[in-house]
Amino acid sequence: MSNDGVNTGRRRFLTAATTVVGAVGVVGAAVPFVGSWNPSAKAKAAGAPVKADISKLEPGQLLVVEWRGKPVYILRRTPEALDAIRKMADSVKDPNSEEAVQPSYISGEFRAIRDEYLVVLGLCTHLGCAPKYHPEVGAHGQNWLGGFFCPCHGSMFDLAGRVFKNVPAPTNLEIPPYKYESDTVLVIGEDQEAA
Ligand code: FES
Repeated sequence: MSNDGVNTGRRRFLTAATTVVGAVGVVGAAVPFVGSWNPSAKAKAAGAPVKADISKLEPGQLLVVEWRGKPVYILRRTPEALDAIRKMADSVKDPNSEEAVQPSYISGEFRAIRDEYLVVLGLCTHLGCAPKYHPEVGAHGQNWLGGFFCPCHGSMFDLAGRVFKNVPAPTNLEIPPYKYESDTVLVIGEDQEAA
């Protein structure tokens, strides 16, 4: 005689709605984190453009915003920083960014729509760690005039995100599509219209 009372094995599973949004490490703890405007979480997940208010960014400061789950570094460069970039041509692997991933309207050594503001993805082109912003001259040897240092395997990038020679990272930091909505608002994820 069968025992109908036997537990049929139905189990209840808790269905945890796990929306996992890639956690982005906090970048450059010593660097002031200036606020930014973001669309809703839903819009962000869909890859919507992100606006960044750069009105409070001081010369030499780095702002980090998140776009499509990735950190985007916005650096306000000083005239000294631009001078430093000019001096790095022989030390970087791809001074004219011929191999770099960047929009067609970005060119030249400064790699920016406006020289004063660098906009790059904060992901090392080696294995994707977040490079740290180290503006101090000499911080990583005599040849260091400020730039981004990746602590994972020691890759170095100048203040235009150009990779040094003889480091593991193969290419310059990637530049996302972006445009200026006004003098003080950047839109990351939307291309600048052709002039
Ligand atoms: S991930 Fe940056 S050097 Fe390896």
